[in-house]
Amino acid sequence: MAEEQQLFKITIDGITIEVPQGTTVLNAARMIGKEVAPPAMCYYSKLEGSGGKCRTCLVEVAAGSTKDPRPMPKLVASCRTVVMDGMIVKNKTSERVIDARNGIVEYLLINHPLDCPICDQAGECHLQDLGYDHGLAGTRYEFKRRTFVREDIGPYVQLHMTRCILCYRCVYVADQLTDHRVHGILDRGDHSDISTYVSKAIDNDFSGNMIDVCPVGALTDRTYRFKNRVWFLKPMDAHRDCDKCCGKVTLWNRGDEVYRVTARKDPWGEVQEIDGKTAWICNTCRFEKKKASDWTIEGPTKIDRHSVISANHYAEKVQPPDPLNKVLFGRKPLLLMDIHEVSKVNTPDIDLSKIPGPATSTTFIDRDEAKDIEQAEAERLLINDHKELP
Ligand code: SF4
Ligand code: FES
Repeated sequence: MAEEQQLFKITIDGITIEVPQGTTVLNAARMIGKEVAPPAMCYYSKLEGSGGKCRTCLVEVAAGSTKDPRPMPKLVASCRTVVMDGMIVKNKTSERVIDARNGIVEYLLINHPLDCPICDQAGECHLQDLGYDHGLAGTRYEFKRRTFVREDIGPYVQLHMTRCILCYRCVYVADQLTDHRVHGILDRGDHSDISTYVSKAIDNDFSGNMIDVCPVGALTDRTYRFKNRVWFLKPMDAHRDCDKCCGKVTLWNRGDEVYRVTARKDPWGEVQEIDGKTAWICNTCRFEKKKASDWTIEGPTKIDRHSVISANHYAEKVQPPDPLNKVLFGRKPLLLMDIHEVSKVNTPDIDLSKIPGPATSTTFIDRDEAKDIEQAEAERLLINDHKELP
């Protein structure tokens, strides 16, 4: 009989959850939800060995465990720290974490160009989102930024090394998904560079997945470059029979035109699991099937990531985060009031198209009150009429 898995209790930003032994702090936070989950630029749950490089997921451990409740002296990378029973962790509630994260974002942006207005990743870039939450208005860096020439690595992928944050995700994709990796991180320190071995092309069937895992716009789709902005496109779930991959994708359409094809993403921006497997897609589906007739459309994609791409596509209900619920003792916050319940204005039973002339304040007042006003007005007119009689 299988041994019962031990559960460990962890409290993150005041919210307690029980998770299986061996779960990382980051994944425990993701189980609670977006309100407490730290950002992650290099960790990717579907790629073995990822994490531990970017330090954006740092958290404060206020108590190590029930057995040893001493706090950890330094902030730790939540993607690489496993939960201990009784652990207490602070993420958004820790000033030290926020301060460190601001510093990490500033560091990541030292060499990153301000390319957002022309970058294909704009709107779905995790660094852009982090920049909004933690970035400074200006840079304090006085030295020359690293510059690189753009490189076509294979027929479908272009590398903008200036935008790369050296997260290693694309290297893990090449290692774990393709037959033989021909690119990697060359050199060390501030000379580090993603490149192919003696300018070899990346032409493996699954190489396009590197574009999906890149958290910034360093690896871009050459078939989509500069064709459109992602927030103008309508994402649709679609599938086709494919002998190489699962064939389940997101089409990014404008009208009937398919601008790009990507794998389907989960709320963390990672490729989704479908039927128990990570739904990586092949290059044929991604780059060569750009006609709507190539696909069976399933319906609009549910975007549940907080980003500009969720504008008009946001599928989640607005819910107060848990700590707010506690303060409000189950009451609804004012933000979520039903306007019809609290205001006499805009009552749904008044059909504006049926009232004569434009709506005025009397349109919305209480019916009995309206009758009284109408009667008073009629009486006033009658008295005036009598006054005017000779
Ligand atoms: S190219 Fe993208 S995925 Fe690869 S290391 Fe750089 S940022 Fe990471
Ligand atoms: S996500 Fe943890 S160090 Fe990068």
